[in-house]
Amino acid sequence: PTTALPTLALKPSSNPLSDAQREAILAAPGFGRHFTDNMVTIRWTEGRGWHDAQLVPYGPLSLDPANMTLHYAQEIFEGLKAYRRPDGTVATFRPEANARRFQVSARRLAMPELPVETFIEACDALVRQDEAWVPPHGGEASLYLRPFMIAAEVGLGVRPANEYLFLVIASPAGAYFPGGVKPVSIWLSENRVRAVPGGMGDAKTGGNYAASLLAQAEAAAEGCDQVAYLDAVEHKWVEELGGMNLYFVYGDKIVTPELTGSLLAGITRDSLLKMAGDLGYTSQERRISIDEWRRDSENGTLTEVFACGTAAVITPVGLVRSARGEWTQSGGEPGEVTSKLRAALLDIQTGRTEDVHGWMHPV
Ligand code: PLP
Ligand code: COI
Repeated sequence: PTTALPTLALKPSSNPLSDAQREAILAAPGFGRHFTDNMVTIRWTEGRGWHDAQLVPYGPLSLDPANMTLHYAQEIFEGLKAYRRPDGTVATFRPEANARRFQVSARRLAMPELPVETFIEACDALVRQDEAWVPPHGGEASLYLRPFMIAAEVGLGVRPANEYLFLVIASPAGAYFPGGVKPVSIWLSENRVRAVPGGMGDAKTGGNYAASLLAQAEAAAEGCDQVAYLDAVEHKWVEELGGMNLYFVYGDKIVTPELTGSLLAGITRDSLLKMAGDLGYTSQERRISIDEWRRDSENGTLTEVFACGTAAVITPVGLVRSARGEWTQSGGEPGEVTSKLRAALLDIQTGRTEDVHGWMHPV
């Protein structure tokens, strides 16, 4: 029954925000602070599969206090963006890749897999309905989509639920970091880990972010913007940041930590591996140790480091600090390769260059 595609009933808000209110929000959206007029919800029930797909006014959910998600965190989510193109039309970036990763996350969390087509259709329907919320072409703002799924069963037994609720909400997004493309500083966490081998680091599930919050607060106390996590066994190999993957630039070669199962297979990360050649760079996935990171920064062979993800796009790393000392990265300035990749990616996403990889999905 899980493969039958439900038809989406359109029951949008009859009381959307006024044009003036919406435009005031779009002028300075921030990240994840404002939500559009509508949302999509689809239910799954054991024995029945996916059903009751609807687009309804954005609003609170009513949850029983014993809803399983609230106790055992059986939850997964995605993040993707819709961009306004020069001709005024709207397209999302690689929604199929998000749909597939959502299935990977669902399997890891023992949840039902939402068909790829249903995931994409749910996102499309919301973007179409709330199209006025997609910021104008020309800036860096976009409409961030947050598909997610929670357990909908009530009870305190520890086992996979027999009912689920899938939702898509949307939020206009400006720069993720308030400083814009200013380089961020990184705290190298040598004792706190985000994910372990055999754990759920490669699933996009709330628990991984909960696990990162204390380290993030400690990084802030050390004057740093973000935490870089190391592998949980040797505390030696660089994995990723709390919400972004990392890239290391060696001249004209870009290198990213290989997928070990304990870091997220970022879609931006994958796109950059595929785009590198377009700009005359080579790309590589391999293990990178913290000792190599420091040594090669200091001897100048590691020329730039940047973080990448849907929310943060591409953000240069300017400073790395750990309990053992600190060093500056690329003189604390955004590097040339970082800037070129960032511009090239945004040009594809916002429709300023030809979509040679076939990544854009017109809505
Ligand atoms: N790593 C983590 C832990 C993330 O939360 C994200 C954000 O989605 C990423 C990496 C980057 O993934 P993507 O490029 O698919 O947004
Ligand atoms: C994203 O980039 O989509 C993320 O999920 C990062 C963060 C907001 C959790």
